[in-house]
Amino acid sequence: MSEETILITGASGGFGYEFARQLEATGCRLILHARDAVRLQLTLDILKHPERHRTIIADLSQRKGVEGFIEAVNSEGDLTGLINNAGFGVWGKFEQCEDVAQLDVLRTDLVAPVAITHALLPGLIRSRGFIINVSSLAGETPLPYMSTYAAAKAGLTYWSEAVRTELDGKVRVVTLVPGPSPTGFRDVSGMPKGKGSLFRTSAEVVVAASLNRLRQGGGYCVPGFRHYFLWLLQKIVPRDISLKLMAKYLKP
Ligand SMILES: NC(=O)c1ccc[n+]([C@@H]2O[C@H](COP(=O)([O-])OP(=O)(O)OC[C@H]3O[C@@H](n4cnc5c(N)ncnc54)[C@H](OP(=O)(O)O)[C@@H]3O)[C@@H](O)[C@H]2O)c1
Repeated sequence: MSEETILITGASGGFGYEFARQLEATGCRLILHARDAVRLQLTLDILKHPERHRTIIADLSQRKGVEGFIEAVNSEGDLTGLINNAGFGVWGKFEQCEDVAQLDVLRTDLVAPVAITHALLPGLIRSRGFIINVSSLAGETPLPYMSTYAAAKAGLTYWSEAVRTELDGKVRVVTLVPGPSPTGFRDVSGMPKGKGSLFRTSAEVVVAASLNRLRQGGGYCVPGFRHYFLWLLQKIVPRDISLKLMAKYLKP
């Protein structure tokens, strides 16, 4: 068994669950985080060695939640890996979505990863560890009716890529940029199931691609050919056209 300790935020389902499953197979110890203790326990229960791992409950949309979370993680010693995965979106007209929910998206998807990474970085540097920031293709283009989520993920991608360059040679960083995947994300955001189904890529493929990129030394990672095709479209379609297409596609 290795002595590596890896923290996964948002491990109560979706990508977080899959990170836990694939990383446990490498023999590391996991710190699993979420808000929902019951669902987090279900993740722990499917692991082969639940007794090796630890769970922490915290709401990352709250400043006090983030502070308490960092304190709890610090008491576990230096990490070798940090996966900033927890996040959610809000789908709907900006004027009609609750302002608190939209601010919570920014706090959970952008502010919390920055705060958590900054606090845990000294240990990650000492252990010559790694960070995986789970961003989104939503951060590659403005998205009408998911405006705040797209803004949060755009911020996360830009921050992650800049920090990756600063940390070169000290900590490996992967900026993971997936498109649609069948997780709990849609139910939480309120988005209808049908949208984006053609391009859906499994959580297993998404997570495996990011761990593969990590083994190559880190970098920007668009997982799977379907998401890569969407990414290419985002790069070549002019913004005015893309805005119209996305508005038509995402309109409630
Ligand atoms: N699925 C997709 O189509 C897709 C595409 C691109 C990017 N992503 C990104 O992938 C990441 C993982 O999402 P997922 O697709 O796996 O969705 P998911 O199944 O809904 O999982 C989201 C995780 O984030 C946690 N979380 C949400 N809000 C939180 C908060 N305020 N405080 C603490 N934890 C919170 C949830 O835990 P609790 O509910 O237990 O708190 C859950 O474990 C997110 O950052 C998402 O933006 C998803």
